[in-house]
Amino acid sequence: MQLSIQKAKEANQALYELLLLADPSKEIVDEYLVRGECYKAWIGSELAGVYVLLKTRPQTVEIVNIAVKESMQNKGIGKQLVQDAIEKARGWGADTIEIGTGNSSIHQLSLYQKCGFRMQAIDHDFFIRHYEEEIFENGIQCRDMVRLYLDL
Ligand code: COA
Repeated sequence: MQLSIQKAKEANQALYELLLLADPSKEIVDEYLVRGECYKAWIGSELAGVYVLLKTRPQTVEIVNIAVKESMQNKGIGKQLVQDAIEKARGWGADTIEIGTGNSSIHQLSLYQKCGFRMQAIDHDFFIRHYEEEIFENGIQCRDMVRLYLDL
């Protein structure tokens, strides 16, 4: 699928709809938009996906938000976005790219590992501490944040 990926200049409703798929907190999304670089992926004139890349420490960047429009998921777009983020991180001169996801996010854990990420650490009860509502995915309670990294 031919994607055209461009840096986002401003946040509109269509962009927020995608970003909030990955993180229900608008406050957190807004903070990432201020601190990071947001990239939009288009298929023709349709906004298909988005990701936000953030410099977190010297030589380290993190994909802090990544999402594909629901009707376009499972077609390989997410994988292309992760691969594009890896290339951008290399271009920024980073040594490491990181990403975090929930213990119950089976698809995401599969995708990131297929893109070369390895598990680094587990932040136990992260989602219990930071989110008011209980989250269930794939019949599993989302409690722990799994941190993954890829050496560039
Ligand atoms: N279980 C396990 N693996 C699955 C799967 C499933 N249900 N569905 C797809 N995969 C695999 C695919 O087989 C594919 O691997 P392959 O290329 O070897 O076949 C790989 O995952 C990538 O799939 P892809 O189609 O590129 O992913 P996507 O376009 O659906 O995007 C997300 C992935 C996570 C970005 C997308 O599902 C999304 O926006 N989810 C909501 C927001 C979100 O959760 N963001 C991440 C927060 S950490």
